[in-house]
Amino acid sequence: MTPAERAYELVNGFRLTQMVHAAVELRIPDLVASEPKSAEDLSADTGIEAGRLRRLLRALVAIGVLRDEGGRYSNTEVGASFREGVPRSVRPLVRMLVPESYRNWDFFMQTLRTGVTGQSLAHGATLWELIERDPDFGARFNDAMAGNSEAVAGFVARAGDFTRAKVVVDVGGGEGSLLAGVLLAHPDLRGIVYDLAAGLVQTPEYLASHHVADRCEIVEGSFFDAVPEGDVYLLKDILHDWDDQKATAILRVCRKQMGQNARLLVVERMAPTQVIEGPAHMNATTTDLQMMVQLGGKERTREELEELFAAARMKLDRYTPGGVWQLVEAVGV
Ligand SMILES: C[S@@+](CC[C@H](N)C(=O)[O-])C[C@H]1O[C@@H](n2cnc3c(N)ncnc32)[C@H](O)[C@@H]1O
Repeated sequence: MTPAERAYELVNGFRLTQMVHAAVELRIPDLVASEPKSAEDLSADTGIEAGRLRRLLRALVAIGVLRDEGGRYSNTEVGASFREGVPRSVRPLVRMLVPESYRNWDFFMQTLRTGVTGQSLAHGATLWELIERDPDFGARFNDAMAGNSEAVAGFVARAGDFTRAKVVVDVGGGEGSLLAGVLLAHPDLRGIVYDLAAGLVQTPEYLASHHVADRCEIVEGSFFDAVPEGDVYLLKDILHDWDDQKATAILRVCRKQMGQNARLLVVERMAPTQVIEGPAHMNATTTDLQMMVQLGGKERTREELEELFAAARMKLDRYTPGGVWQLVEAVGV
């Protein structure tokens, strides 16, 4: 790619996002999964007029989502990753992020200038208020989070120190997918998923379908008030949702409940101190801006996390680098 082509690609990103979103909403990657289909076939399946649909299909070929086999369309490997129910499917993320955050980013300049979230400017509500008032969006959000956590649960289960634990509390655990992964890897552990009511709507079904419901309790509440008693506290993608003051408040509430041998396992994308070009750092740095726009939160460096721990009478005990998410374990001091 020439520098000019790359520059154009960067400007064009908003169109690509909408094309992929349309493909996912119309289930095109699912519809062509078992056999290649023509624009007419897909028009009949989706109810979209064939001429307009063909224009979308050929654009999806140009960006590497579909393949054109003599007028019949099939998935590339990228297209297949948008199918429902495949391991690490990107579909839930598309269905959560695009309808909600696309509008937030329209206010990015205002957020940069004032610090007011694009979320509040676009929706007139915090993310958690939006989830509460729109159960359909809430379900999409919870599913997207569960998909993310499934991808990282094996790493956390292997790398985390659960040696002295009996009860693991997934703080702001949503559907409980991280906890389920940990419990499946450690058959002697029991767990508690702790979240607001809207975060817990799909949790019973998720835990049952992953065969850990008999070892799990579901507790509703706010982590600004209290957390249940346990030996290991999991916080995945929690601290980055909040500014330093609120993140410290959450850690203090956990610390208050932590016994002498209790551990706190933070699973987050870490902000790089020395950024390099490429996918390794693109995820953390763009998610950092996403947190600014959506929630007023941020991705933190290891040093910034250590400062939060110190403010909550904790210290970093172990750091295990992963892929997208890193594991940071803290203990009380
Ligand atoms: C970014 S999601 C992460 C979910 C889950 N930990 C994961 O990574 O899959 C943040 C979670 O925090 C929950 N949450 C937000 N405010 C909360 C509060 N005050 N008390 C408890 N949970 C809260 C949300 O409902 C949501 O499930």
